Amino acid sequence: MQKNMQFSREDRGQMDSAGATATTAPRGSKNEALIRFSDFGKNFGKGAKTVVATRAINLDVLSGQFVTIVGPSGCGKSTLLNAVAGILPPTQGQVIYRGAPVHDVNRRVGYMTQSDHLLPWRKVAANIALPLEIQRKPKAVIAERVNELIKLVGLDGFSDSYLSQLSGGMRKRCALARVLAYDPETLLMDEPFSALDAQLRITMQTEVRDLCLRLGKTVLFVTHDIDEAIALGDICVVLSERPGTVREIITVNLPRDRDLRRLRSDPHYVETTEHVWALLAPPSVAQKGRVA
Ligand SMILES: Nc1ncnc2c1ncn2[C@@H]1O[C@H](COP(=O)(O)OP(=O)(O)O)[C@@H](O)[C@H]1O
Ligand SMILES: [Mg+2]
Repeated sequence: MQKNMQFSREDRGQMDSAGATATTAPRGSKNEALIRFSDFGKNFGKGAKTVVATRAINLDVLSGQFVTIVGPSGCGKSTLLNAVAGILPPTQGQVIYRGAPVHDVNRRVGYMTQSDHLLPWRKVAANIALPLEIQRKPKAVIAERVNELIKLVGLDGFSDSYLSQLSGGMRKRCALARVLAYDPETLLMDEPFSALDAQLRITMQTEVRDLCLRLGKTVLFVTHDIDEAIALGDICVVLSERPGTVREIITVNLPRDRDLRRLRSDPHYVETTEHVWALLAPPSVAQKGRVA
């Protein structure tokens, strides 16, 4: 297996004609990083109780790229997103966003986590409106934008519903619309679908990937699920166990407009997921030639 999976010439031609590839900068972007982790490291605690969460992370994320980050529990995946959001200062190195080190809350990003933090006493439209209310946008502007977002995520007809009247998928769509409300250029997604059943999960993965590509968003998507990481990523960053560091950055050899429901039979998908499974297998098991 190659260290960094590359496109064949044929694949590259096919994808270039489709608009963009993961190895070239997607749509309308220059070839410089929108987000750069430069020797980033983060420790928690002090003295003998210090936990080294991540160390020596070097990673460039291009504008418009869908980047997945996969690794074992506790290897610092959420820590990386928190650093981009500016809510966690680095211990070593830095995170650079649009050429400037992140020192404060980064208002160019939107954050979506496993728990959606929607407010049950507010209806769908009022939940989506919240970030715009905080920004003190005029009521008419908010109403128009909320309408637009409700259509965008496919919640037409539910603006007046309470969350208890929504299915799990609709709740996720509502949370997504709220994150998109102030039009962040980058979405940070921390295992947003890990609690969903398999069928709903693939529906939401498809909707989110399609929407982000259509809107030209840059996405950092964290997951501990290897299949999800390869299915969604233009590139997939594989982290080691804690202290998390980059084991490999894989260029995913699939078209940008991939059909997630057909990936199981795609040889590149199968090969790439197997490669990552082997990479992340505990050493004792891998040596015996088995994957846990
Ligand atoms: N605020 C914190 N205080 C102390 N330790 C923390 C804190 N946040 C994370 N950690 C520790 O840092 C490591 C990485 O955490 P995290 O980024 O949440 O991992 P992951 O998202 O990959 O599961 C874990 O061992 C975790 O216990
Ligand atoms: Mg986490």
